[in-house]
Amino acid sequence: MRSCYFSMFPILFLVLLSLSWAILAQSHHKFLHCLSSFHSEDSSSISKVIYTPYNSSYSFILESSIRNLRFSEPDTPKPLVIVTPLHTSHIQITIYCSRKHELQIRIRSGGHDYEGLSYTSEVSFVIIDLVNFRAIDVDVENKAAWVQSGATLGELYYGIAERSRTLTFPAGVCHTVGVGGYFSGGGYGLLFRKYGLAVDNIIDAQFIDTNGRILNRKSMGEDLFWAIRGGGGGSFGIVLAWKVKLVHVPTTVTVFTVSKTLEQNATKLVHLWQYVAPKLPHDTFSAISFRKVNSSQDRQRTILASFQSLYLGGVDELIPLMQERFPELGLRKEDCTEMSWIESILYFGQIQNGTMDILLDRSYKTTFASPSFKRKSDYVKEPIPETAFTGIWSKLYDVDAKFVRISFVAYGGKMDEIPETATPFPHRAGNLYKIIYNVGWEEEDNIKSQKYLSWIRNFYSYMSSFVSKHPREAYVNYRDLDIGRNNKGKTSFVQASIWGHKYFKKNFDRLVHVKIMIDPTNFFKHEQSIPPFFS
Ligand SMILES: Cc1cc2nc3c(=O)[nH]c(=O)nc-3n(C[C@H](O)[C@H](O)[C@H](O)COP(=O)(O)OP(=O)(O)OC[C@H]3O[C@@H](n4cnc5c(N)ncnc54)[C@H](O)[C@@H]3O)c2cc1C
Ligand SMILES: *[C@@H]1O[C@H](CO)[C@@H](O)[C@H](O)[C@H]1NC(C)=O
Ligand SMILES: *[C@@H]1O[C@H](CO)[C@@H](O)[C@H](O)[C@H]1NC(C)=O
Ligand SMILES: *[C@@H]1O[C@H](CO)[C@@H](O)[C@H](O)[C@H]1NC(C)=O
Ligand SMILES: *[C@@H]1O[C@H](CO)[C@@H](O)[C@H](O)[C@H]1NC(C)=O
Repeated sequence: MRSCYFSMFPILFLVLLSLSWAILAQSHHKFLHCLSSFHSEDSSSISKVIYTPYNSSYSFILESSIRNLRFSEPDTPKPLVIVTPLHTSHIQITIYCSRKHELQIRIRSGGHDYEGLSYTSEVSFVIIDLVNFRAIDVDVENKAAWVQSGATLGELYYGIAERSRTLTFPAGVCHTVGVGGYFSGGGYGLLFRKYGLAVDNIIDAQFIDTNGRILNRKSMGEDLFWAIRGGGGGSFGIVLAWKVKLVHVPTTVTVFTVSKTLEQNATKLVHLWQYVAPKLPHDTFSAISFRKVNSSQDRQRTILASFQSLYLGGVDELIPLMQERFPELGLRKEDCTEMSWIESILYFGQIQNGTMDILLDRSYKTTFASPSFKRKSDYVKEPIPETAFTGIWSKLYDVDAKFVRISFVAYGGKMDEIPETATPFPHRAGNLYKIIYNVGWEEEDNIKSQKYLSWIRNFYSYMSSFVSKHPREAYVNYRDLDIGRNNKGKTSFVQASIWGHKYFKKNFDRLVHVKIMIDPTNFFKHEQSIPPFFS
């Protein structure tokens, strides 16, 4: 019997395999048929925005906004269909047909998800790519704007700057990031110590649920409106557009970058920064980034710590402020540059010689972007002892990837004043700064990739005693599938509650309640979406 069973096995396996292919092809076919049953001859016809692997531009559309080539390999699962809706009805039809034929939907706005969750899936799936949903409507008089999810942060900045040089929106530096994902997970940037996160400045939204209903703040209710402002993308439904409050910026801002090597007392300065930066006035953004370099003097390896700041005012106010708060840094007038707010976005994006038009370039690759990368985040509540930095530097020396950066971004300011429960984003008062770990590489060589992934995981575990604990907090927009990873591949509530509490702390429970209310059958889901159950 036993040998018979074994000899039967490969045949059985093949039969099952071809059967599942047949079912797949069939559901694929039925899905397309379902979409085309809504076919109309007018300009709103959905057939103009459906791409299958047989359409010649399928690969171009798929790859157009992939930012992490780790998820663009030949063996990366690809969508059966990509839909790039022009009208809300196209989205409603796609949701209807995906539900009917049990295909998963992945929603993509800017495609910057660190783990590729907007364009890959382990099960048969369809991408709704919001690239055509990017209208921006600015109302200068009422200091508000509607922005559709498929717009980039750059398009939003540009749209506002065209109408006013002293109004803007508090968002991130990298201008190719999509509004849809960025707003869904919180969204920090140069102005967050002054005005809070992007989600702290959202006043209405247009949302589409599993039944294709279009809801706004009033009709969705305050629980769902709370959840979509920071609970992470892809869990509740599709946000089509957001109404945001615009904020004031002065006509002149000041920026500086001061870099110090270990020989120039970088360790002492970094240690001091932890006490100084979180208490700087709200008008200041302050960060440090670390990398390994060869000293320009003796070519010996060292660590370069770059202190970067934006100040909402002129250099004549900034110098005395830094003299008083951080004299050890020795900031001089010649280290500083005065510019407009919009120019400062290019400055921090390391865009040299660029004009404002670059903000409209959706495919712009920054000089510091790597084709493949892995990032992680941490929050720090107590200053790291000066002696511990030696260990951090030696970890940095340990890796030879093309791009390795550790950054500290100072919290405090307005972030301390907003309660933890105001939005799902819980990392507020009590945090001195956030750490970003980033390793990037060009090689497609799998062994090298594994080496870099091990390096960053090892670094992360080394840092555990210096960062937040119980839970060790993490930023949901720095999506990290290492957290609470389940080796069986299925999401159990136990797993979900591990990453859930790291990303959202106690807000996780309220997010689960909202999920049960709006999507009890768990139609909108991915590897780290909010589960519709408690155990
Ligand atoms: C180079 C770079 C720089 C970054 N800089 C910053 C920064 O300064 N500050 C910061 O806070 N973050 C930053 N991030 C992280 C960024 O905020 C997140 O990766 C964000 O989720 C990206 O949004 P997206 O629309 O581009 O991504 P996508 O990959 O399109 O979406 C991300 C997630 O949201 C879901 N989603 C997308 N659109 C919608 C929608 N309309 N409705 C519902 N769900 C949706 C997706 O399904 C996916 O799960 C950066 C990322 C990169 C790669
Ligand atoms: C993709 O191909 C199908 C079948 O030939 C066609 O109906 C559809 O219009 C094509 N899509 C686009 C966007 O051209
Ligand atoms: C570094 O610190 C020491 C001791 O405080 C000081 O003597 C020295 O001048 C500093 N070096 C630099 C380059 O600032
Ligand atoms: C530093 O020097 C070493 C040895 O000369 C070289 O291999 C390495 O690429 C250099 N690193 C940088 C960051 O320039
Ligand atoms: C910027 O312009 C200067 C002078 O025109 C040029 O030398 C430099 O290479 C340019 N830099 C970039 C990144 O294009």
